[in-house]
Amino acid sequence: MRDKFRGKDFLSLMDFTREEINDILNVSYELKMKWARRELHEYLRGKTVAVIFEKPSTRTRTSFQAAIAHLGAQSFYMRPDEMQLARGEPIKDTARVIDRYCDALVMRTFGQDRLEEFARYMKNPVINALSDLTHPCQGLADLLTIREKKGDFKGLKLVYAGDIWNVCHSLMIAGGTMGFDVYVAVPEGYAPNPKIHQFAMEAAKRSRTKIVLTKDLKEALKDADVVYANTWHSMGAAEKEKEKRAKDFGPYQINGKVVEEAKPDFIFMHCLPGYRGEEMTDEIIEGPHSVVWDQAENRMHTEKAVLALFVG
Ligand code: CP
Ligand code: NVA
Repeated sequence: MRDKFRGKDFLSLMDFTREEINDILNVSYELKMKWARRELHEYLRGKTVAVIFEKPSTRTRTSFQAAIAHLGAQSFYMRPDEMQLARGEPIKDTARVIDRYCDALVMRTFGQDRLEEFARYMKNPVINALSDLTHPCQGLADLLTIREKKGDFKGLKLVYAGDIWNVCHSLMIAGGTMGFDVYVAVPEGYAPNPKIHQFAMEAAKRSRTKIVLTKDLKEALKDADVVYANTWHSMGAAEKEKEKRAKDFGPYQINGKVVEEAKPDFIFMHCLPGYRGEEMTDEIIEGPHSVVWDQAENRMHTEKAVLALFVG
């Protein structure tokens, strides 16, 4: 089972079947247990991994670099503003050179096309650490967290409220592929990427689940098992529209009142960073339903599995 991932890129959850994602989640859990027992798991000893982040990060960068260290490999953080890429060196040249020194590239960037270009020119795996389009590493950690807290994906209803962007897209793909309902609360004037939407709808048809876009948060939250919030202003262009977005997304805040519609044992998730008083209240993120710290921890375990399987 494990050889089938070796050398592949990890750019989007759309590239993997339900069985493959389950395999990655199983390895994530095994590695999580080893880490809990402080058992050595240096499956990448002697390997090198380049890490480039063109946007800020706390969780993804730290969890990747910790995971790489636990796996016995060496990571090189390359600041984009200190690379020749910033002075106009083409991606295809940068990619071929990194490929000669490093066994993998972990990269956070803007367009998914930048990652795809790196992947085209590198033989070694390229791992998407977030693009405008998708955040598959977040998606994997979310799946592991849901599976741990709820036991199974079957019959679950996840409600998403926040920017219709990378994290929303990865959850739509994950729901359709793994087989749980995803309700996305979408304010007027916002919509998911049509290709992602179509993929998720087709996957949901196969798994006999639902992907629903609705303007009605209250209706969406009815009997929800998982309530997922995300910022209203993602990194990049949206940051310049903070005021407009505060108005548009204001009615979509997750607070103590609206979650009364959800199941009594719902879990609250957030990819973080979170903005209290905007997409959710302090009482929700700090409350008894919140699993956000376990979710953040799972970033490291799932990324470790991707590294071990794809680079090992
Ligand atoms: N959730 C997430 O990707 O967080 P960072 O931006 O801190 O990496
Ligand atoms: N949608 C957010 C996720 C941050 C992890 C963003 O892109 O800023």
